[in-house]
Amino acid sequence: MAVYYATKAYVISFSEALANELQGTGVSVTCLCPGLTDTEFQTRAGTERTTLFRRTRPMDAATVARDGYRALMKGKPLVISGIRNRLLMESLRVSPRRVVTAVSRKFLE
Ligand SMILES: NC(=O)c1ccc[n+]([C@@H]2O[C@H](COP(=O)([O-])OP(=O)(O)OC[C@H]3O[C@@H](n4cnc5c(N)ncnc54)[C@H](OP(=O)(O)O)[C@@H]3O)[C@@H](O)[C@H]2O)c1
Repeated sequence: MAVYYATKAYVISFSEALANELQGTGVSVTCLCPGLTDTEFQTRAGTERTTLFRRTRPMDAATVARDGYRALMKGKPLVISGIRNRLLMESLRVSPRRVVTAVSRKFLE
């Protein structure tokens, strides 16, 4: 999961920088950040038995896609789908990094 989440951090930074560099060109970049979503992903990634999956109700894929589409049409560089996920991200911003890493591990075991 270390590699998986590090790539997600990269995609966010890359998308935000790209969105900025493309300002005024008519091309926009929107990075959609979903939380747990009901797709094929959990089966494919083999994460169905994690604490996160067992304790969290996934969001409906169509709702997440709609959030992404709306943000794209508004030209937003980043969208976090779902109020629960937005609140979670805000809490991570003010939490010590060590705590964030430890809690992430706990949920993904
Ligand atoms: N589901 C979640 O809980 C969740 C949460 C956070 C982030 N995400 C992220 O959301 C993104 C989409 O995931 P998903 O939930 O929609 O998963 P998914 O249902 O497993 O769909 C993955 C899609 O990616 C395609 N794909 C996989 N490898 C590919 C490759 N090498 N080249 C081109 N296409 C490839 C698959 O195509 P085929 O069907 O043709 O193989 C499939 O359409 C992923 O980046 C995932 O990390 C998902």
